[in-house]
Amino acid sequence: MVAKNPAVRMISRFTPGDQLGVYYREYYDSVLEALREWDEEGKDRLFHGAPAGIIISSSPGATTPKEDALLAAGQIVLAAQAMGLGTCLIGFAVEAMKNDPRIKRAMGIPKKEKVHAVIAIGHPSIRYQRPAGRHHVPINFL
Ligand SMILES: Cc1cc2nc3c(=O)[nH]c(=O)nc-3n(C[C@H](O)[C@H](O)[C@H](O)COP(=O)(O)O)c2cc1C
Repeated sequence: MVAKNPAVRMISRFTPGDQLGVYYREYYDSVLEALREWDEEGKDRLFHGAPAGIIISSSPGATTPKEDALLAAGQIVLAAQAMGLGTCLIGFAVEAMKNDPRIKRAMGIPKKEKVHAVIAIGHPSIRYQRPAGRHHVPINFL
């Protein structure tokens, strides 16, 4: 993988946001480990073993594509929950589709469509007894 090459990472430091350097520091090791798990154990860390997924994309010319996609994703997640299903937004898949046109082609998604979200859907392997704990959210009353 190109990010492993220190010379390439050095060049990346002079590009806006040093994307390759950031990727190397934050994700390289865990992606490598995930690929090893996939190869050796058949463990799917990308989609968490979900058997289905929904891709939300927009056609060119849509007025508010990002907002539409965000609203659709929220509704899909809630509807799935109501049906007893579990979901997980998979940002890694969105990034992969942005960076490698072969994935969109293989999925039959027209080139001009922009992919905004990928949602993995499946039957959850665990049942929560109560809502998951949350960090305190500060609310300002005016
Ligand atoms: C835009 C977006 C992209 C995400 N991408 C991933 C992903 O690629 N893989 C993953 O396991 N979770 C992904 N998540 C899920 C987050 O890890 C999860 O929403 C976060 O941990 C909060 O989870 P909770 O609301 O269940 O506590 C993504 C979430 C969002 C909003």
